[in-house]
Amino acid sequence: MNTYNRIVEKLDKSGVKYNIIDQTSAKSRRVEDLVAVTGMTYGEGLSTLFFVNERDEIIVILRRDDRNIVSKAVKKITGSKSLNFATEELIESLGYEKGLASPVLLSELQREKGVRVLVDIKSNEMTRVICGIAKEGYALEIQKEDLFKLIGNYEVVDITVPNESRQLGVKKRILTGDRPTGRLHIGHYVGSLKNRVALQDEYDQFVMIANVQALTDNFKTPEKVAEHISELLCDYYAVGIDFDKTTVFIQSEVPQIHEIFVYLSNFVSVQQIQHNPTIKTELAQRGFEQSTPLGFFMYPIHQAGDILCVNADLVPVGKDQAPMVEDCRELSRKFNSTYGVKVLSEPKALFGVEHNLPGTDGEAKMSKSLNNCIYLSDSEGVLKKKIMSMKTDTNRIRATDPGTVEGNTVFIYHDLFNINTSEVEDLKNRYRLGTVGDVEVKEKLFIAMNNFLKPIRERRLEAEGMKEQLMKKAVEGSSKVRGISQGIVDSMKSAMKIKF
Ligand code: TRP
Repeated sequence: MNTYNRIVEKLDKSGVKYNIIDQTSAKSRRVEDLVAVTGMTYGEGLSTLFFVNERDEIIVILRRDDRNIVSKAVKKITGSKSLNFATEELIESLGYEKGLASPVLLSELQREKGVRVLVDIKSNEMTRVICGIAKEGYALEIQKEDLFKLIGNYEVVDITVPNESRQLGVKKRILTGDRPTGRLHIGHYVGSLKNRVALQDEYDQFVMIANVQALTDNFKTPEKVAEHISELLCDYYAVGIDFDKTTVFIQSEVPQIHEIFVYLSNFVSVQQIQHNPTIKTELAQRGFEQSTPLGFFMYPIHQAGDILCVNADLVPVGKDQAPMVEDCRELSRKFNSTYGVKVLSEPKALFGVEHNLPGTDGEAKMSKSLNNCIYLSDSEGVLKKKIMSMKTDTNRIRATDPGTVEGNTVFIYHDLFNINTSEVEDLKNRYRLGTVGDVEVKEKLFIAMNNFLKPIRERRLEAEGMKEQLMKKAVEGSSKVRGISQGIVDSMKSAMKIKF
């Protein structure tokens, strides 16, 4: 039986889902031409490459098509003095034609020919894999987890660098999350949601519903956390997060996060967490200073697990989360340098237009606990009431008194939400002169904000009727993330010599 038929037989017997892609319209077998006809990205391609060393040992390397092999690294790992591409004859003796090898039968090759299989660490983070199937003009599309189960024994090793000419179409990853403890408000919108919507085309975006983190200070009221999951899903849909572009997932469905957290916690001291400014404020807010629940105390490190479970490159968050992202970067750096690997990414925070939006009461931060929020889901009537009772310049008593615009919450909102900039300038001028009353400033703000919130409100209503569908998407998203995270966990375990 020829190799192609053996592969198909093995795939069918194993019961995995797969697809055979027709690439016959490609000009050549070069990856460049295959990418052009299939619309795949280089980061989804996985090549099976055969090498021979001076002892005639055959080494098979699986590497992503957006990466280059560093031969020095392979020599070191395999104890080889020289390393050459296998000759055409040798490849044929293994059952393949040059350029048409496939990873599916590697367990058989290990048994029959004693080949050694090295898998580049970066391949571990793939989801959809496109690889050879030993037939000219065709490729195999399969999920990484399914493929790797078929391969048999392999070593995960760090042996590649990016191939600069093949970065096109390889999207960087974004991860953010929200605790499901309340509805989202306009502070979330300007701080983070707006960025997420803007970036979802250009990036591979992941949005996590942080229900495990939410339990760290709500563990006695789990129903509150559970109920808010679908509220968050509706808010996401309402602001324009596209569930087909963005992978929305649920934290508790990805236990690999907890595993990453345990490994990272070796690299941080209790004192360091105590100095995290966000944790300091939050402990005070919750009255936890005297008796601090360990689960809550550890959440900054657990959050690094969230971010690194997909090896994110960017984290769009509000300014209050900056220390968390900083901790995460430091943990990655320490892990990588301690074990001499590049397993974990060093993600950067990305802040929204407004770092911390003030609340309607003029307090520095819009926050549910301060009861000063304008929610995305607020009705027109509620919005009007909230705006008309906003704090403005407290030193100004009469409409004829000159007022201060800077730092005045009503004008901060005007700047962010009123697209009629000449109206805003006019109001500011008259406010400074004392020729406009608060009521007019607020009424105009209401009109502007209502224009902004109306379409969001309408989409939210639509989402209410789609809750089941959105939940299904989040469950599917979680499964996808598990596949990626397990690869990262395996790489971490290899680095720490606990992978068996
Ligand atoms: N701690 C964040 C908040 O309270 C939510 C969150 C959880 C998060 N995990 C994350 C944000 C990972 C960014 C990345 O808003």
